[in-house]
Amino acid sequence: MKALVLEDVGQALRIKEMDSPAEKEGYVNVRIKAGALNHRDVWITKGMYPGIRPNVILGSDGAGILDGREVIINPNHDWGDNPRVQSKDYHILGLPTNGTFAEEVQVRSDKVFPKPRHLSIEHAAALPLGGMTAYRALFTKCGLRKGERVLISGVGGGVALFAFQFAVAVGAEVWVTSGTEWKIEKAIKMGAAGGINYKNADWKSFGKETGGFDVIIDSAGGDGFMNLVKIANPGGRICFYGGTRGNITSLNPQIIFWKQLSIFGSTMGSDEEFRDMIDFVDEHQISPIIDSVYNLEDANDAFKRMEKGLQFGKIVLNVG
Ligand SMILES: NC(=O)c1ccc[n+]([C@@H]2O[C@H](COP(=O)([O-])OP(=O)(O)OC[C@H]3O[C@@H](n4cnc5c(N)ncnc54)[C@H](OP(=O)(O)O)[C@@H]3O)[C@@H](O)[C@H]2O)c1
Repeated sequence: MKALVLEDVGQALRIKEMDSPAEKEGYVNVRIKAGALNHRDVWITKGMYPGIRPNVILGSDGAGILDGREVIINPNHDWGDNPRVQSKDYHILGLPTNGTFAEEVQVRSDKVFPKPRHLSIEHAAALPLGGMTAYRALFTKCGLRKGERVLISGVGGGVALFAFQFAVAVGAEVWVTSGTEWKIEKAIKMGAAGGINYKNADWKSFGKETGGFDVIIDSAGGDGFMNLVKIANPGGRICFYGGTRGNITSLNPQIIFWKQLSIFGSTMGSDEEFRDMIDFVDEHQISPIIDSVYNLEDANDAFKRMEKGLQFGKIVLNVG
């Protein structure tokens, strides 16, 4: 089978002919039609993930064919039975196990779900990891309710856009940040109440103009995180699932305890949350926003696009 392989950290990805996974009890081989990038894949190529091994096939997101049916794949392995936190054996498809950027992937048979009927195979491939992460952050952790005011930071990101779409779907008042004006404009056309550029933001005025936020979803962390704390409303909930901008260096405990804020970290989601997310997407007929589709042969260009942060939504790889 044709596969996109990371031979070693820091090298360009290469297409190689690999053996199809041998049949295994309890597992199925899905014929992949499309995969999608997550920032995780970029971090792995740079060596910024534990357990990297030579010749790993990357890819956590994928959709394809099993027994003649179109399916999507839950990238979770061994979450365990505690909904609050993953087990110590937890891992994600695409490292250490071979992932979806290949003509075939082997996953446990309970990880395969019928493709939501309203989605194309590319749209379905874009959904799993980002959709699940956004769902847990927004609903399980922050308990977002209709009518609340929510801020999605870095809306151009894959997970962020799912959080945006899900929040709009439940009738929240959704605001966004981005480092690029046209991404803010796009979000407004999709139902955002407004937005601000995090590179030159006047956070005090933004807080006043908007009335502050009940829920804030972030993946940047870094020095800017304290700005989010300042514009959170009393009783507000902030959840971060990434740390793209590094460590949070200045946090004012007085503001956090006086405003009774809850700050959550969140990773991926349980298998139950994956199912709930699919049902939610079905119920609200949500289609993932696809930024671009690349052929597997052009995957290095796709990775560069994500590295440069040029995308608005998911970058899809045409595999099959
Ligand atoms: N814990 C988990 O389970 C989990 C799951 C998925 C992702 N993640 C992590 O979450 C992060 C995003 O993942 P992704 O796949 O959605 O990546 P992505 O599609 O590449 O999105 C990254 C986004 O980060 C935003 N950003 C950059 N600098 C920012 C800043 N200073 N303030 C606010 N936003 C900023 C950008 O938004 P604009 O383009 O709008 O400027 C960019 O689009 C990565 O660090 C990833 O490793 C964690």
